[in-house]
Amino acid sequence: MYISLVSVMMIATLSVCKGHHEKNCNVFPKDLHIEVGSSVELVCQTSCSNGKFFWTLNNKNISESLSKTINSTHIALSLRNFTQSSATVECRSSYTDQILGGIIIKTFSKPENIACVLHVNDGWPHDFTCTWNHHMNSSQTINYTILHDSLNEICKSQVPKCASKDWNTVNSIFSHISNSTIIVRAKTAVWEVYSDPYTFNSLHIVKISPPTWTVITPSSDHLYVEWNPHCIQNNCHCQVKYYKTSSSNDKATKYLSRRPSHFSATTEDLESCIKYNISVRCAFNEALWSNWSQEITVLTKLNKRHIRLRLWRNVAKQGKNGKRNIHLMWKGIPSTCEEVLNYTIKQIPYGDNTTTGNYTYTSCGSSSCDVDVGQNTQKLYLIVSINDALLAEDSVYVPAVAQSLPQVFSIQTTTHEGVIQVSWNASEKTISSYIIDWTHDGNQYYWKETTSTNATLFGLLHRKPYNITVTPLFNDSTGHGSQANQICSSIAVPESVSVRDVEVNDRSAFMKWETKSQDTCSGVITYVIYYETQGRPQFNVTVNGNEDGVWLKDLKPNIQYSVIVEARGYNGTSMSKKTFFTTNKFDSKLIQTLSVCGGFLVILVLSLGLTCAIQWKKFNEKPVPNPRLSSVAKWLSQSHQKMEGFFQPITDQTENQVITDETQREQGAPLNPVCNGDKARNKKLMVCDPSISPSPESEPDERFSESQVLSSPEGSMVFSSSQSSPYRSQDSVEPLLPRVEETSKSDLESKKQEKTTQKSVYVSLNMFEQSDVR
Ligand SMILES: *[C@@H]1O[C@H](CO)[C@@H](O)[C@H](O)[C@H]1NC(C)=O
Ligand SMILES: *[C@@H]1O[C@H](CO)[C@@H](O)[C@H](O)[C@H]1NC(C)=O
Ligand SMILES: *[C@@H]1O[C@H](CO)[C@@H](O)[C@H](O)[C@H]1NC(C)=O
Ligand SMILES: *[C@@H]1O[C@H](CO)[C@@H](O)[C@H](O)[C@H]1NC(C)=O
Ligand SMILES: *[C@@H]1O[C@H](CO)[C@@H](O)[C@H](O)[C@H]1NC(C)=O
Ligand SMILES: *[C@@H]1O[C@H](CO)[C@@H](O)[C@H](O)[C@H]1NC(C)=O
Ligand SMILES: *[C@@H]1O[C@H](CO)[C@@H](O)[C@H](O)[C@H]1NC(C)=O
Repeated sequence: MYISLVSVMMIATLSVCKGHHEKNCNVFPKDLHIEVGSSVELVCQTSCSNGKFFWTLNNKNISESLSKTINSTHIALSLRNFTQSSATVECRSSYTDQILGGIIIKTFSKPENIACVLHVNDGWPHDFTCTWNHHMNSSQTINYTILHDSLNEICKSQVPKCASKDWNTVNSIFSHISNSTIIVRAKTAVWEVYSDPYTFNSLHIVKISPPTWTVITPSSDHLYVEWNPHCIQNNCHCQVKYYKTSSSNDKATKYLSRRPSHFSATTEDLESCIKYNISVRCAFNEALWSNWSQEITVLTKLNKRHIRLRLWRNVAKQGKNGKRNIHLMWKGIPSTCEEVLNYTIKQIPYGDNTTTGNYTYTSCGSSSCDVDVGQNTQKLYLIVSINDALLAEDSVYVPAVAQSLPQVFSIQTTTHEGVIQVSWNASEKTISSYIIDWTHDGNQYYWKETTSTNATLFGLLHRKPYNITVTPLFNDSTGHGSQANQICSSIAVPESVSVRDVEVNDRSAFMKWETKSQDTCSGVITYVIYYETQGRPQFNVTVNGNEDGVWLKDLKPNIQYSVIVEARGYNGTSMSKKTFFTTNKFDSKLIQTLSVCGGFLVILVLSLGLTCAIQWKKFNEKPVPNPRLSSVAKWLSQSHQKMEGFFQPITDQTENQVITDETQREQGAPLNPVCNGDKARNKKLMVCDPSISPSPESEPDERFSESQVLSSPEGSMVFSSSQSSPYRSQDSVEPLLPRVEETSKSDLESKKQEKTTQKSVYVSLNMFEQSDVR
């Protein structure tokens, strides 16, 4: 029951499918391989769909003109000159844009450019090789077969080259007098194509072996080349190829053709002492050229006619013994020459026409020489000879030291990327040209001549200081050379930069750095100082390359910072190692100021205390005037010139004796010591000379008058003239110090010396005087 139902459904489905199949759509033929450039016609069965039908090629609509309707269920497409290597063509219906069917068209081409060579070795053919081009982008294997018109298949391969070494085949081709024709067939599993026929004459495709020995003989001005051709019956012609080893481009290559039976050649005039590469090839009659023989490299000989000897010299500053060192240098003989040449310098004092031949000769190396000359004008000759035969000669002039000659001035030098530019000024009009010479080590000199007042020096060594001399040439002579300031060819950044010192404050730090370099020519354009503290952005300061220190500002107190110095030069940078420093907690200047102030304060307090203590002591010990102990004297009138008996001492009080002139005299002490201090007003202790006594007449007013009262605890004594007191003086009963008496005495005497009309006289003894006394 169930089974029959399923069967009925299956049958129904099948019948529906079958109905669809009848209304199938498709494109014919399937998977097409056509030859490039050929035409193809496609048919599309459209019975499964309605609407308008059209074709697409690689998803692009194809012009409707190429399409045509065959009948109600078929349309056709004609493609002409189809060249695409692979393309998808589809047939579509505009109704729901349905693809009714499609095919892939692939193209293939036929082998082209067939060329065949018959290799002949010493008259015998040994292989027949053909090559061709075949543009194929499919990866499928292609079987190629060479079909000969009379020999059928002669060679098979799967690459576009085929060589037959079969003796029979090769020999029959070689001996085939008339033309031969071959065709190359290319065959894959799905297609097959034949090349166009290729016709050749066997004699024209013969290729002989290249010459196997070639002998080259260099002479002073050319090369002589000989070789052995591998030719049949000596009826081949050859070609010689040569070029400078240093320049192998085709333009510089030269060819020499040799007619049959000429198997040697002589090159044209070649440059002296230059390496050339030479090779030879030959061809049998009009057949193909053989390969080039192996290249041979030969150095040409020095040709005397090519020598353009040019001599120059650099005159050093006057050295020992008044001799000048002349560094001679020359050009014109290639350094590559292998010939052994003799170089001799002949020194002739200029203007010496005597032919005694007693000249100084110096043997030299191959490119420079040093000789010493005196201060006079000299002419130096360079003689180049080979085996005692003169090759070339040149001379140079060395002016006398004192000779007045033109000279260039204001030499300017600039350097840029390893090239030095030099320019100078010259006022002299007769100057024909200038020689500029330069050296970096004093041994190796370079020089060139220029007619302009500038020059560019190339090919310099890096980072070397150069000494440059410019010498004018005029008439037949040379002027004095002028040397430019030493200049570096290039400047390198120093290899090492290091932080030397950091002086820290609380909010700033002063850091210094230093650089070290092996090179004399080192320099820095700018320094960039990077400093940072953990977790904060990096700061930087840029300073000029001349500086070696910088203030780092806006720092935070008591924080560790790291700092790096980067030196930036023309050619790069160099970095210092990271250096750490920690800022101070407080401003060191403030601390300094505070400690200085504190010190001062302490000293002040101490000294004040000391003073007070002294003064207090003094005050305590100050004797109170005791009238009982005082002496009384009668005041004598001013007209009284005599000093004697000025005061009457109380004799029974010897310890409190008032010293009078008289007593002093009696004691053998001179009167009124003269004080160097000179003025009593001078509060400093005066140095007194007791040996000089001023005459009392000259200073009548200076003597003490009327009274002298000792008062005031500070030790000042008041002498009051207004008081008609008979007391003259009051000395301490016990002098404070051993010399106080002397002091007071001298003071007293000073007072006497002071010419004054004032009635009162104050004498103050301040404490510092006393301490000075002490
Ligand atoms: C339409 O043309 C195709 C190809 O020519 C042919 O096979 C087909 O039978 C034709 N159909 C009708 C209905 O004529
Ligand atoms: C050989 O072919 C060349 C062209 O390739 C033709 O000029 C010549 O006449 C032919 N010779 C003979 C003998 O067929
Ligand atoms: C190509 O040649 C090889 C052997 O030479 C052969 O096995 C192969 O079937 C050939 N292929 C075609 C497509 O002819
Ligand atoms: C040649 O020179 C030498 C030294 O320079 C000197 O002693 C000698 O007298 C000179 N001879 C003549 C002929 O001038
Ligand atoms: C370059 O010139 C300076 C100054 O005249 C001199 O001291 C120095 O020796 C010269 N250097 C060389 C290599 O000649
Ligand atoms: C000399 O200077 C002129 C003008 O500045 C410049 O054109 C010329 O190239 C310079 N010559 C050399 C050799 O540097
Ligand atoms: C220096 O710092 C500034 C910002 O402070 C930044 O823009 C600049 O790139 C820094 N320079 C270098 C060389 O790092």
